[in-house]
Amino acid sequence: MAKITAGIATSHVPAVGHAVDSGRTQDDYWKPMFDGYEFSKKWIAENPADVAIIVYNDHASYFGMDIMPTFAMGIAEKFNICDEGYGPRPIPVVEGHAELATHLAASLILDDFDMTVLNKLDVDHGLTVPLSLMYGTPDKWPTKVIPLPVNVVMNPQPSGERCFSLGKAIKDAVEQFDGDLKVHIWGTGGMSHQIQGARAGLINLPWDIQFMDDLINDPETLQYKPHLEYMVEAGSEGVELIMWLIMRGALGDKVNEVHRFNHVPASNTSVGHLILTPKDN
Ligand code: DHB
Ligand code: FE
Repeated sequence: MAKITAGIATSHVPAVGHAVDSGRTQDDYWKPMFDGYEFSKKWIAENPADVAIIVYNDHASYFGMDIMPTFAMGIAEKFNICDEGYGPRPIPVVEGHAELATHLAASLILDDFDMTVLNKLDVDHGLTVPLSLMYGTPDKWPTKVIPLPVNVVMNPQPSGERCFSLGKAIKDAVEQFDGDLKVHIWGTGGMSHQIQGARAGLINLPWDIQFMDDLINDPETLQYKPHLEYMVEAGSEGVELIMWLIMRGALGDKVNEVHRFNHVPASNTSVGHLILTPKDN
């Protein structure tokens, strides 16, 4: 049986990718942030996954105004790198796990989650920056990846409740896969940040810390937080945090907190990071 053995949450700030790619992680500005991931790199080397389901959002790098799936799943054998701003990062291609991804897509669609199936997908910083934070700069990524893009950039975005339910359905689907796989699920994006408009630069660390507490201890209530609260309290891009609810829904009722880290700011963002394991694990 396949099993979800951990959930990882992390911000996905594009400038962090640039700091890695230009060898600046030990600069005064960046070192305190990267230090918060040192534990995580060791932990993931000791607790590897065969496959990571990475819940992330595309930032109009691959999708755009023409097509914006609400929930999608990458079922290809490989995913090329793309990005806005600095362009594609010089990092290894991301390898997929077509067998598990196909099983998940079928199972989720029969569970009434109308996933868009992606036989071709290029992945941007939403997915690649978390890979760099957890694995550094390897020649080949140590895990296969199933990209799960979520629309959080264009109205209407899915509700927190729907995201949390999708996570629960992913847990069930993984456990029904006929194969012995260790699976991690990652929720990326957030925490509070606003990169546009009059409130650009907004950060709300106390709100972020409460969000983390609730994600760990009371996700059933957290799923009902309205999008407007994310906007008001966590800035116009804070709604990326609904992707953490998918990760949390896939871990079951109770979790162990393995690692927790906050750093303010990185670029315009309040960086938050968690490693959680299911309590029954
Ligand atoms: C920033 C953060 C993001 O999550 C993003 O997608 C773009 C920019 C930032 O902090 O600059
Ligand atoms: Fe983002």
